[in-house]
Amino acid sequence: MTKSTDIRAIELDAQAIEILRGNDCGTYTVPTKGLYPYQWNWDSIFVALGFSAFDIDRAWVEIDTLLADQWPDGMVPHIIFRKVDPGYFPGPDQWQTNRQPPTSGITQPPVAATVVRQLLEIDRDLNRDRAERIMVALDRWHQWFATARDPKGRGIVAISHPWESGRDNLPDWDRPLSFVDTSGVAEYQRRDTQHVDADQRPTKADYDRYLALVQFGREHNWNIEAIANGNAFWVADVGMNAILLRAEHDLAAIAARLGNKTLAKRAEQRATRLENGMEALWCEALGGYASLDLRRNEHAKTLSSGIFLPLYAGAVSQERAERLIGLLVDWLDAVRFGVPSFDPHSDQFDAIRYWRGPVWAMINWMIAMGLNRHNRPDLADRLRRDTQDLVENSGFSENFSPITGRGCGGDEFSWTAAIWLAWASPTHKRATA
Ligand code: DGY
Repeated sequence: MTKSTDIRAIELDAQAIEILRGNDCGTYTVPTKGLYPYQWNWDSIFVALGFSAFDIDRAWVEIDTLLADQWPDGMVPHIIFRKVDPGYFPGPDQWQTNRQPPTSGITQPPVAATVVRQLLEIDRDLNRDRAERIMVALDRWHQWFATARDPKGRGIVAISHPWESGRDNLPDWDRPLSFVDTSGVAEYQRRDTQHVDADQRPTKADYDRYLALVQFGREHNWNIEAIANGNAFWVADVGMNAILLRAEHDLAAIAARLGNKTLAKRAEQRATRLENGMEALWCEALGGYASLDLRRNEHAKTLSSGIFLPLYAGAVSQERAERLIGLLVDWLDAVRFGVPSFDPHSDQFDAIRYWRGPVWAMINWMIAMGLNRHNRPDLADRLRRDTQDLVENSGFSENFSPITGRGCGGDEFSWTAAIWLAWASPTHKRATA
């Protein structure tokens, strides 16, 4: 690092801390003010990772707060509506989950065990009761996935809503969503487009379908059997399955460290089932892992950055890893900043619209972990460097155009700040494994 990059990085470190502190509501952190004014599940986990770079106690508080509102059946909801905010739609009145505090009725990718494992490395003296409480909550959540989202025991979990994937409007969801009947959706007013330009957000047709799915869950009291049997959208997302698989291994490692052999074994058993199940997502014709519409037994015809997450999960043969890495290099050659969230060669690629092209810092972090795991630290560092450049040029935006580097979506975004502190900043020394 030269002296000037050094000074710039130190300034950005301070800004990232300021963003996390500014979005901190005391015991939880909003993703960004305005657009996302509540607690979101995987955002909070990335935030905890960011806090761990400068305030490990606050990192644990973020995790405790999220897990405190786990449902009795084990699900950890994707949004917890801690303080009513009319600036967000759909709010608690649309979800009607009958929880206090109100929550949504779906979950989000379980990155928690992976981050908790890393936090335990930093905080080796964490109070044992607290560590055990977190571990047990994660085990219950993972077991919920196995029961609620894989009722046939195939080793692949379904998502019941695009929001459950956390990668809301990927073109991968277009076809399965086209079967969702929107005729019962009443008029509504979107709030997201009051905060962010409409050309960076999902379309109205997408929103109609999102709301029809919320309506179905609400009408069935969020009953897991009713959703598994009747929800119009029931898709095995590569990203969700890969993240859960890695999380099971990380949970097993946490349990082994805390001396809980039974729990470690249970997590490994679920991991083995998922590893076997992942095979159903491989699509030779596409040359990668593709999401599978479980209602029609049909693979997506498109490739998203989620296909690189099996590398992060560690579930890939050497031969497939080489093919995926070859594809990644091809994508990186097609854009200025990696990793685009969607195939840059596709005519559905859109550099600035939410998950149809933009780069996301936390996805880069996960893919980089996968690359390190497959002996490509050079490429992992390329992704770190791209993330650094994006933040240096455009600040802590929600996501970025892979073509111009322009910041898109919400500003002063918590997870971008968190990933900066925990990985992308050149001042950061911790290894990514
Ligand atoms: C939104 O409202 O855009 C969120 O991504 C839903 O989780």
